[in-house]
Amino acid sequence: MAEKMNRIAVLAGDGIGPEVMGATLQVAKEVEKRHGLAVEWKEGLVGGAAIDAKGKALPEETVELCRSAKAVLFGSVGGPKWETLPPNEQPERAALLPLRKIFGLYANLRPAVLYPELVGCSPLRPDRVAGGFDVLVVRELTGGLYFGQPKETTKTAKGERSVDTMVYETHEIERVTEVAFRAAAFRKKRVTLADKANVLETSLLWRKVVKQVAAKHPNITLDFMYADNAAMQLVRDPGRFDVLLCENLFGDMLSDEAAAVAGSLGMLPSASLGEGSFGLYEPAGGSAPDIAGKGIANPIAQILSLALLFEMSLGQPEAAQTIRHAVAGAIRDGWRTADIAASGEKKVGTQEMAKEIARRVALGTGKS
Ligand code: IPM
Ligand code: MG
Repeated sequence: MAEKMNRIAVLAGDGIGPEVMGATLQVAKEVEKRHGLAVEWKEGLVGGAAIDAKGKALPEETVELCRSAKAVLFGSVGGPKWETLPPNEQPERAALLPLRKIFGLYANLRPAVLYPELVGCSPLRPDRVAGGFDVLVVRELTGGLYFGQPKETTKTAKGERSVDTMVYETHEIERVTEVAFRAAAFRKKRVTLADKANVLETSLLWRKVVKQVAAKHPNITLDFMYADNAAMQLVRDPGRFDVLLCENLFGDMLSDEAAAVAGSLGMLPSASLGEGSFGLYEPAGGSAPDIAGKGIANPIAQILSLALLFEMSLGQPEAAQTIRHAVAGAIRDGWRTADIAASGEKKVGTQEMAKEIARRVALGTGKS
């Protein structure tokens, strides 16, 4: 059973998923060698690929594979081929949301980091992001409008009526807030709650519960910001944020925005966590069907998701650091995929970027 202890479910999915996953597994092999680890990377079908092969986006055997694993390394799902299916059968809704729910992955960590060398990639004026920034969006992932009941469309005399329900209970807010405060303790010790306490009942409960949790963490500063204002501050002065805590839908939106101001979606990993060490790790960027199969996608988001997996699910922070140093070193020394290349800069493909990062992992430092 020893090897099962370190089994990771690898769900590459659709679009650029398979190519960035392949590249990432090369890096993973070097990390194992470097740190003397034995991990079993076991592939499973998910998303459109699973619909094509098995008739559904999340086959039972894939769920079983995930259950038998310490964590899931997830690629991305979805694409034009499956967009005409009924909404409930589409890869995003039929694979990703159930995975989150089944495994109780209530805390979604999305670090949006702008590396100083990539300030030119941010759509923001250089003087607003000089020196880069590092914001961690902590998004509640299994509650709110995504899952609240009732959720339905019914016929009325005049047409149709649709309802989604925003509902939160104390314990759902408490547990994700704990995650945010624990993360802040290792960062700049500041948590901002984005809410709409001027309008929403649920936001009032969020404020109340978050204040109670904050009382247990006296060394962390807490402030509140309306979500619309937070959206604005993210483009005016992203550096003012440290940990940005949000309910599910606000977190969906604000994390995309934070990612965009950080330059490229191709750089940003994420971790979805529940109780215990099990987690699902995926790039923030999605399946990017427009560039799929061309070998040009940036593998760094997937590689940094691997780093989070080593750190949070396998208890190997040194392995995670090795990966992060290798990535930072490659960026510092000018390695650029198309999404992060300034005009005139030499571009490399998915494989070349991953090879360079793997080479640095083998060396064990970010140095070339
Ligand atoms: C995300 C995505 C998903 C979400 C979609 C694909 C269902 O946008 O992970 O942010 O809305 O949560
Ligand atoms: Mg989203």
